[in-house]
Amino acid sequence: MGFCGPSSSVLLPALLLLCTLHQTSAFELETNQTVSLLVDASPQSGRVIPEALFGVFFEEINHAGAGGLWAELSFITTSTDRSSCFERNKISLRMEVICDKDGANTCPDDGVGSIILNIEQGKAYRVVLHVRSSGSVNISVSLTGSDGLQKLASSNIIEEASDISDWKKIELTLESQGTNHNSRLQLTTTKRNNLVRSSISHAGHGFRKDLFEMLAELKPRFIRFPGGCFVEGEWMRNAFRWRETIGPWEERPGHFGDVWMYWTDDGLGYLEFLQLAEDLGAAPIWVFNNGISHNDQVSTSVVLPFVRDVLDSIEFARGPSNSTWGSVRAAMGHPEPFDLRYVAIGNEDCGKKNYLGNYLKFYSLIKAAYPDIQIISNCDGSSHPLDHPADMYDFHIYTSANNMFSMAHQFDHTSRVGPKAFVSEYAVTGKDAGTGSLLAALAEAGFLIGLETNSDVVEMASYAPLLVNANDRRWNPDAIVFNSWQSFGTPSYWMQQFFKESSGATVFPVKVQSNSATSLIASAIKWQSAEGNDNYLKIKVVNFGSDPLNLSVSVNGLENSINSLRSTKVVLTSANVMDENSFSAPNKVFPEKTRLESAGTDMAMVAPAHSISSFDLSLAPLVSSW
Ligand code: AHR
Repeated sequence: MGFCGPSSSVLLPALLLLCTLHQTSAFELETNQTVSLLVDASPQSGRVIPEALFGVFFEEINHAGAGGLWAELSFITTSTDRSSCFERNKISLRMEVICDKDGANTCPDDGVGSIILNIEQGKAYRVVLHVRSSGSVNISVSLTGSDGLQKLASSNIIEEASDISDWKKIELTLESQGTNHNSRLQLTTTKRNNLVRSSISHAGHGFRKDLFEMLAELKPRFIRFPGGCFVEGEWMRNAFRWRETIGPWEERPGHFGDVWMYWTDDGLGYLEFLQLAEDLGAAPIWVFNNGISHNDQVSTSVVLPFVRDVLDSIEFARGPSNSTWGSVRAAMGHPEPFDLRYVAIGNEDCGKKNYLGNYLKFYSLIKAAYPDIQIISNCDGSSHPLDHPADMYDFHIYTSANNMFSMAHQFDHTSRVGPKAFVSEYAVTGKDAGTGSLLAALAEAGFLIGLETNSDVVEMASYAPLLVNANDRRWNPDAIVFNSWQSFGTPSYWMQQFFKESSGATVFPVKVQSNSATSLIASAIKWQSAEGNDNYLKIKVVNFGSDPLNLSVSVNGLENSINSLRSTKVVLTSANVMDENSFSAPNKVFPEKTRLESAGTDMAMVAPAHSISSFDLSLAPLVSSW
């Protein structure tokens, strides 16, 4: 199971040594041999995979949101003044300008004050400022290059003292004449004693486009949010509190996430998470603090206010717009309820002193108010039954590549009755993973094939963590890496693309036969395009070994005929199993799609060494015989 914070690497050296030895011997066993894959695609052998098997887990870690996906930039936080016009957010930038236009302390010609961001040519940026001053002001608001010399856009605010003796909101739109990835928003002045508070925003729901698109490309069926350890906090006082993250952005107090050790303005707040889920077409999974942090706990006898707080959050998400909290949501621009059907009581808290007691309070009151909500427990029910009611149980796994690959069988012997597993965090970590290696992706793909096969007892799964701002990494590896203007997927990101059609598809049994040991695992699913026009049989094969393997694929019982002209093959591999992607070589490990020339029910294929392959057989519609 995973655990938060830097201490997670302490046990790794000893484990890694064992895993490396094992891995070498497994690879040595392999030759260029033939492996038979027998796919039983007869309708009676198929089983429907849960609708939301694969999704994403968003945690505010690595500046995933604040300074990442959340593109509404950026309250200036270098301020020291607590006199802002917002009751819950008192901090403002005090531009106490000590220079002046003339006199002994002359300001530089172009004034003082700046923040850094990514600005692109032709785009319009909305700047909102709240200004207060005892005297008149003349503030130049401009977007400039990183050296401050290249002017991208500029506008002036000129106000008389009488108009700004109290806070005044001023909005400007700046259209950029150029592109600069390390641009500055400069608020400059040569006059004394202005108080300014500012933000800058893009159109839409506030999500950074390239990152949002990368998430959407995974076609996630759910999004778990907002953490992780972020939900717990090192201390209760620093845990995520949904109430403080709603309402106008500029009024949110923000908070210090003391597990990942940075400040978030909570611009990406509870409503924005729900909105993100809706925009992605993914079911929201709200993980809330259950009165337990890493270092302190609320005792069960006084946990009721925390339960009420969570009930309010559920009403905020899905209550009618005339309910107490539904009306707050409506006032924020979303009168329609969000489709909240899953909540998780805490994160990695099972076994802590107050967990069971607190859990039962949350469980019974949430179920009483919202019987249809699926409740997720932190306790692992994969090897023995839970001692408390739950709809699902959380399962986290961070481990070496060999372990992960062999965990394809983790759920083979799990009881087929009782709550199902939510594998809400999985990843290869440590030396095998580097900052995102092909090796890690291969092992994870093997694990996911095991989950598909066991999807009668595994309901959902998501990789972790999802996003990392390369300028402030807190956890390695991650699925998507970005800086102020670039982004790329690690091999684990591309690996997930092989599974984006699995949710709601039909899985068929596959037998792998070989004369000697192989590190190969395979699955077969039948899926339908979103429009419902196209059907495919998708056979996925992970060759975890260091030799290519000849595959002899036989598909039995398939009712449809195969359209070989529209059938394709996708392969993810690279020259070296430790290869990674980077800003300079973002597609070094990248899936290659080609036509599948020999598509049919009997195929001779090759699974390259260290590869994930997908053979997508396009199926002709069934002809009815009457
Ligand atoms: O994914 C990183 C961290 O790993 C999560 O915050 C936590 O749940 C797990 O320990």
